[in-house]
Amino acid sequence: MKILAIETSCDETAAAVVEDGCVVHANVVATQIELHRRFGGVFPEVASRQHVLAIQPVIAQALAEAGVSARGLDAIAVTHGPGLAGSLLVGVNTAKGLAFAADRPLLPVNHLEGHIYSNWLDAPERAQGRPGDNFPIVVLIVSGGHTELIEMRGHGRYRRLGGTLDDAAGEAFDKVARLLDLGFPGGPAIQQAAEAGDPGAFDLPRALRHAADHRFDFSFSGLKTAMFNLIRRLAQEGRELRDPHLLADLAAAFQQAVADVLVEKTADAALATGARQICICGGVSANRMLRDTAAARLDALGIPLYIPPLRYCTDNAAMIGAAAYYRWRSQPLPDGLAMDVHASLPLPEEESDSGQQVTASGVMAP
Ligand code: KG4
Ligand code: ZN
Repeated sequence: MKILAIETSCDETAAAVVEDGCVVHANVVATQIELHRRFGGVFPEVASRQHVLAIQPVIAQALAEAGVSARGLDAIAVTHGPGLAGSLLVGVNTAKGLAFAADRPLLPVNHLEGHIYSNWLDAPERAQGRPGDNFPIVVLIVSGGHTELIEMRGHGRYRRLGGTLDDAAGEAFDKVARLLDLGFPGGPAIQQAAEAGDPGAFDLPRALRHAADHRFDFSFSGLKTAMFNLIRRLAQEGRELRDPHLLADLAAAFQQAVADVLVEKTADAALATGARQICICGGVSANRMLRDTAAARLDALGIPLYIPPLRYCTDNAAMIGAAAYYRWRSQPLPDGLAMDVHASLPLPEEESDSGQQVTASGVMAP
């Protein structure tokens, strides 16, 4: 089953052709990072306009690289939320036009479910292969907008264990990079600055580490404030922030504080739920220190750990094609042409804590 997948939820215009949820025939990503750099973050209006300019060439390139025409596809999938409404609309409306013209089903995909399924994509560099159907799986999603711990009981079957109470992990990277004057996007900039740094150089907080009532929750706003206060104190002491050694130590200590708490709580969740596999995904999972910390601590549990190769960690359309395939396999087709965009769209849970059913689109049913 060949799916053309389209992703425009934030600042990457992406299209991919994915077969049977794992074989990637094409994965094209046109990034807008350079456009947004001067704003120090993603500027929504600029993002949607750029999607309009890039979407057709990106889709054409993906189809050409995959050697397939629109009529050679079995379905078209598109991210319908969560994300920036104006950006999502470009992908959704383009996908509707394509699906209508080629007379193919149109599948709505939740961006967070896409990140989860980035772990199911084939990649030659994955020594450990892909996670099989060995459920339950504990999934940590760490991106610019989300930090969520999920128990996955089967394909498309999710229970939320916890998540951030304030900033997402990626947001913390981006804000601290601004404090350190490292530019946008903050994650890769902090990672680079931290290369020769000592992660133990400063004592930074690990929030909610022993909070029984927030066992699987995270909080990064206190860490951001601690960094702010530390930087101010160092400046008062006459330390030069531009000193590459000091900058490296600050960046390394921050990364380690984030990685420690993410990995510890993921390990705790895996043990508490009897997880048979662990998956980490989302833009922050590209972070080398997080990957190394996770490999060292989680492998010791004897539970297989999966983290996608770098190109599938940050936003891409291949992961949307994988998620669409698994959801399509397990559910009757939704009426794709009637789909709308949802700026806030939770991961569809089997049953929320309140006992309400949540539908596949993430909308509460009565
Ligand atoms: O998943 P993603 O591409 O977009 C969202 O769905 O949000 O994640 C983007 C986030 C940004 O906050 C970015 O700073 C962070 O992922 N990121 C990283 C790294 N690469 C991207 N954070 C830490 N280390 C990295 N190497
Ligand atoms: Zn994302």
